[in-house]
Amino acid sequence: MSLPLHLRNIHLPLGDQRTGRLYGKDVLSVAQFTRDDLEYIFGVAEAMRNMVAHIGTFDLLKGKILVNLFYEPSTRTSSSFAAAMERLGGSVIQINDVKYSSVAKGESLPDTIRTLESYADVTVLRHPETGSAAIAAQYGRKPIINAGDGTGEHPTQALLDLFTIREELGTIDGLTVTMLGDLKYGRTVHSLAKLLTLFEVRLNYVSPGILRMPAALVAQLEAKGRRQAQYDSLEPVMAETDVLYVTRVQKERFEDLNEYEAVKGAFVITPEIMQQLRPKMALMHPLPRVGEIAPEVDNDPRAAYFRQMEYGLYVRMALLAMVLGKA
Ligand code: CP
Repeated sequence: MSLPLHLRNIHLPLGDQRTGRLYGKDVLSVAQFTRDDLEYIFGVAEAMRNMVAHIGTFDLLKGKILVNLFYEPSTRTSSSFAAAMERLGGSVIQINDVKYSSVAKGESLPDTIRTLESYADVTVLRHPETGSAAIAAQYGRKPIINAGDGTGEHPTQALLDLFTIREELGTIDGLTVTMLGDLKYGRTVHSLAKLLTLFEVRLNYVSPGILRMPAALVAQLEAKGRRQAQYDSLEPVMAETDVLYVTRVQKERFEDLNEYEAVKGAFVITPEIMQQLRPKMALMHPLPRVGEIAPEVDNDPRAAYFRQMEYGLYVRMALLAMVLGKA
């Protein structure tokens, strides 16, 4: 592809670099990334952002095909991966509702993966069972990208969350990150907390008692020397919080819906709460929100959640390009 002159100072390695660190690999867990990897991914994501702003769509992955296989509902992850592939000139096989696929006839995950990857180059998988992406990777020959496996992980969300913190606050080291809401079932907070162990951050967990961060994960982070504290209320940590990461209470994960009803409205971020937070901080949410952040907060410059979902496009473009050996 030949770039117009005014774009030639945008650094985007367009060559075919098949020795790249993610080339041909699965993206299953944040545990696979080093700090060095993150710097590289974020550099490519910045370049993707520039390219989208200036030329929109380009042919880096022309001829490549992505399978977007979603066993659970999604708006952002599914459409941003599809948009990422199309912005890079590739094509998408979209399976958003598996009840219209042979899964409804009882086909196993390994067979579905084997089938779809025979038509494509990379598979993005969302599935309700923890560990399903790793199982898919065991049977698949081509890269699998975990787009959320039950209450386990959502590694590409954590990457875009970190990219957001860096874009919004200019640094990650030295920050206090407060996670609020459903920390038991929220896979986004599980992945983000693990990924943040690569940085010098302090973590606060604010949740109702029945939705605490899993003890095993807290112990894992403690073994890495990370400072963590748990609270029932946001008030004690408002003044020290640089990033407030709000999550939805995950109704679909509760066995007893009475328990969900008891905690669903436990925390709501309002303009009054925003007034008590730091003037320079970032309010984040992986979205969708179902009442945890009042719409009146949306125009606050610290409300980063809509920018956060846009950053997801650039990070996912970077991942696809790297996994397919083009960045
Ligand atoms: N953040 C996130 O995973 O959103 P979706 O469920 O819409 O993909």
